[in-house]
Order: sequence, then C-alpha cells, then structure tokens
Amino acid sequence: MSMAEDNKRQLDPEISVPKHIAIIMDGNGRWAKEKGQPRIAGHKEGMNNVKTIATAASHLGVKVLSLYAFSTENWSRPSKEVNFLMRLPVDFFGTFMPDLIKENIKVMVTGFTDHLPDRTRKVVLKAVEDTKDNTGMILNFAFNYGGRAEIIHAAKSLAIESVNGSIDPDKIDDSMFANHLLTGQLGDLADPDLLIRTSGEERISNFMLWQLAYSEMVFDKTYWPNYSVDNLIEDIKEFDRRDRRYGSV
Ligand code: FPP
Repeated sequence: MSMAEDNKRQLDPEISVPKHIAIIMDGNGRWAKEKGQPRIAGHKEGMNNVKTIATAASHLGVKVLSLYAFSTENWSRPSKEVNFLMRLPVDFFGTFMPDLIKENIKVMVTGFTDHLPDRTRKVVLKAVEDTKDNTGMILNFAFNYGGRAEIIHAAKSLAIESVNGSIDPDKIDDSMFANHLLTGQLGDLADPDLLIRTSGEERISNFMLWQLAYSEMVFDKTYWPNYSVDNLIEDIKEFDRRDRRYGSV
C-alpha cells in the first residue's frame, strides 16, 4: 500500500478534512531541553517534522497547510538562535525540494520577506518560483510574519489607495480588506478551518489574527518535533466533532 493510501485509510471517509489547516509549531525548545540538547537541535528536528506532516496533510486531502515558522517577534531571541532559524529554509529546501516536487506541493510564503537576510529570502523565493505551477497542496510558510503588522500593512495600503483616488474608502469591506492582507494570494482558502497549536500552550501569539475569526482551535499537548501523523489525524477527528456555526444558530 502506498503511503498516501495508508494515511487515507486511517480516516473514515465520512470525516470532513479541513481545507486549510494552520499550525503553530511550538515546543522545539522544550523538546531539546528534555533531551539535554541545545534549543537549535529542537528546531532542526522540528524542521524535519515539517516534511513528515506536510506530506501526510497532502495525502489526507488538505488544500492549504500554513505553518508559523518565524514571527516578527522572534527577532528578539538570542542572535545564535535567530541565525539558525534563518538558515532553516536553506537546509529545508536544499534537502526536501525533490520530495515537495514529487508531492506536487506548491510553496508559498506569507510574511515580510523584504526584511529577511539575502540568502534566506533568495532561497524562499526560489522555492516559491520552482513550485509555482504545482497544483497540489499549498505549503504556506509564515516566515517573518505577524498578525498585527499584517493588518497595519493592509490598513496603510488601503489608506494610500483612498488618498490617491484608486479606491472609494466607503467601499472597503471584508473582502477588499482580506485581499490587502498578505494571505490575499490564497483567495477563498485564506481563512484556516482548523488551527492547531502544539506543546500545550493555549494562545494565538499574533498568528493570522484576521483569518482565524471563525477557525476551530485544537491545542495539542505534543511538542512539535514529536507531533506525528497520528496526532494530526486525531486533531482532524476532533475538528470533525465540532459544530461550526459562524455566528448563526
Ligand atoms: C517555537 O518553539 C518554534 C519556533 C520559533 C520555530 C519553528 C520552526 C520550525 C519548527 C522549523 C521551520 C522549518 C522551516 C522549513 C522554516 P519554541 O522555540 O518557542 O519552543 P519552546 O516554547 O519549547 O521554547
């Protein structure tokens, strides 16, 4: 049996798979600490797990997998750790690009890429370019991303367009605002159906503040490097048990 069939087999066909899953991959540092290793060893293991979970999500029929890989607040970490995190995309795409291509995965990035170190920015934008014609799951990396910064950025561009007359400020509505967010490129798939945060913390931490308005949230106790395909399947089953009402009855 292929791995894709094996992943699917574990899910009852009656179960509704979220179209867009967003994950706050937390607990790398604690995973490493428990093993007596430096924090960066946790990030490295976490990076390898991105490949495992992205492949499984793609096999399960997820359309968009958004991963919070580096926040606008993470720059305040020790420079050794920041430098390591900035090297992860180089390592990740250098190692896994053939697998992503084989899976027909399309890489996207949501974040302020202009502010990344040259090498990181180049490698990320190249991954986006090299997979732009792929038609499978979108693997959306939130890298140098912050929800408030994103909303301010959208508000500024709407203000500029209002002042220069290219839009009528009276016509600003949900959909126009959403199109000015960094996730505008995801169109009607921009809002996650399910948010998963690993490691037991129960916070949003400035992730997709606008887009999470009606998302179901699952807080999984597993540290990200240990988060397995079985954990993902359990969290999808939990999503399926929820009753989404979007403010209605
Ligand atoms: C939070 O754990 C995790 C991060 C800040 C980094 C997440 C990045 C990865 C999992 C790898 C990303 C992969 C690519 C390809 C860019 P933490 O350090 O806050 O853990 P702690 O709360 O236990 O200290």
